[in-house]
Amino acid sequence: MPHFQTDLTELLGIRLPIVNAPMTPQAGGALAGAVSDAGALGMLGFDEDESAEQIREQIAILKDRSNPNFGIGLVAWVLQKRPELLQIALDAKPKLVSISFGDASAWVGALHDAGILVSCQIQNRHWAQVALDAGVDFLIAQGTEAGGHTGAVGTLPLLQIVLDMSDKPVIAAGGIATGRGVAAVLAAGACGAWVGTPFLLAKESRTTTEAQKRITASDETQTILTSVYDRVQGKGWPKEFRGRALRNAFVEKWNEHENEMLADANAVADFKSAKVSRDFNTANIYAGQSVGMLHGLRSAREIVEQLAADAAVRLKEGAELLT
Ligand SMILES: Cc1cc2nc3c(=O)[nH]c(=O)nc-3n(C[C@H](O)[C@H](O)[C@H](O)COP(=O)(O)O)c2cc1C
Repeated sequence: MPHFQTDLTELLGIRLPIVNAPMTPQAGGALAGAVSDAGALGMLGFDEDESAEQIREQIAILKDRSNPNFGIGLVAWVLQKRPELLQIALDAKPKLVSISFGDASAWVGALHDAGILVSCQIQNRHWAQVALDAGVDFLIAQGTEAGGHTGAVGTLPLLQIVLDMSDKPVIAAGGIATGRGVAAVLAAGACGAWVGTPFLLAKESRTTTEAQKRITASDETQTILTSVYDRVQGKGWPKEFRGRALRNAFVEKWNEHENEMLADANAVADFKSAKVSRDFNTANIYAGQSVGMLHGLRSAREIVEQLAADAAVRLKEGAELLT
């Protein structure tokens, strides 16, 4: 396995510049642990809908190993609603806490005082500046290709903009699913790749079998950025962050007609029962455009090792372009 040297590997003490995104609830303790054990950085996402006890169970799974390298992902507006999650994160003693989708300034001091590095996942120049002003250690530039909640700017334009804003290390997120993608963002100046959707098909992820089948069967044209699922569930997501999900009949019908959807009692009831019965013609599967590159289940270690090995080949080939 190659050994990379970037700001990410140096500051976190890891071998490979790859991070599994803290996807909730799919990135639990088993996935994060397997990713860390493979030499990358495993991230555990704290799910807004899970109790403190359920979150601590996932931490216990993750910490039942000798490897201390792991991170925790939090969401700014969820932290405001549930401030106790910060203490749970501090008690877990991660190397990195990442706060997405909002201003992290209220929490950076306490995390730094505990010796924890802080990153912020940002989606445009405005949010990058807010994170820089908050004093974070890393920026995660998250493009619109990403699965789950995200902004409207593509990964490559956003990465170029953010890399030029400061000297802070930047990790790229959104649409990275092969060594080519990892090599591309490292060559552009990122210190790592933040990879989500491909780990939905990791054997250790908490993705359901039916959802994994649908992800495998989807191509890159079959996702949509939508607020339908936040609105139908009454979630507190700020409007600017919509969620990228697989297209299905429900989202095709109600996307951009969310007010009508909410006025239709059948639509809301249908969604609720579909969520329980896991009927994904109606219920949501958040996933990014990289579904078009995914072909089946692998272990987290296999995913990490293939990304790293193929990226190393591409980077060496890239260096040969210079005569
Ligand atoms: C199913 C799913 C759930 C996600 N949940 C979260 C989350 O809770 N917090 C967060 O910061 N990002 C979350 N994300 C976004 C990821 O952090 C990351 O930006 C994204 O997965 C990277 O792009 P990719 O999916 O194309 O690899 C989620 C993504 C997915 C696919």
